[in-house]
Amino acid sequence: VLIYAAAFFGGYLCGSIPFGLLLTRAAGLGDLRKIGSGNIGTTNVLRTGNKWLTAATLVGDVLKGTVPVLLAMHLLGPIAGIAAGIGAFLGHIAPVWLGFRGGKGVATYIGVLLGLYWPAALLFCAVWLLIAFTTRYSSLSALIAALVVPALLAYMASPPLTIAAVLLSILLILRHQENIGRLIRGEETRIGQR
Ligand code: G3P
Repeated sequence: VLIYAAAFFGGYLCGSIPFGLLLTRAAGLGDLRKIGSGNIGTTNVLRTGNKWLTAATLVGDVLKGTVPVLLAMHLLGPIAGIAAGIGAFLGHIAPVWLGFRGGKGVATYIGVLLGLYWPAALLFCAVWLLIAFTTRYSSLSALIAALVVPALLAYMASPPLTIAAVLLSILLILRHQENIGRLIRGEETRIGQR
């Protein structure tokens, strides 16, 4: 149990690094939480108009999920990898440094899947891209990918991995409540809109 707790907290610490917030602040763009949707993730960094910062945020937020998972998996075993992944995801959506008000978990979810079982990350990205190209809604793309991935993992992967994906998807969907409201009201901004 101690091993899993260590993996979880290591993952949490990694995941709680708010790359979007730190990078936009370092670039002199001010507080990301006061821009666009107020979220600290890649989609909102894109609303600043800076493509390089957007890409860097995406890479940072993905890798902070992948790195702890891979480390825990190789050092402590597969279940520790899952514990680290759940920790990293929670670190992103509820970082202690920001009063537990973090992001929505999309990039970090992809990073965690990449470390645990890369085909699932690929699948998430494929669904995301498909919906994003057809609707141009980032949030809707993430929501649909989060529904599809655990359903397919149930056939492709081990029960612990499927259960972890179900948990992360539920949290991701809960974190998108405002987006769901905006989508229903037709007020959600599309990718490319400021
Ligand atoms: O990546 C998070 C995305 O699904 C929604 O972000 O900023 O449009 O609320 P945002």
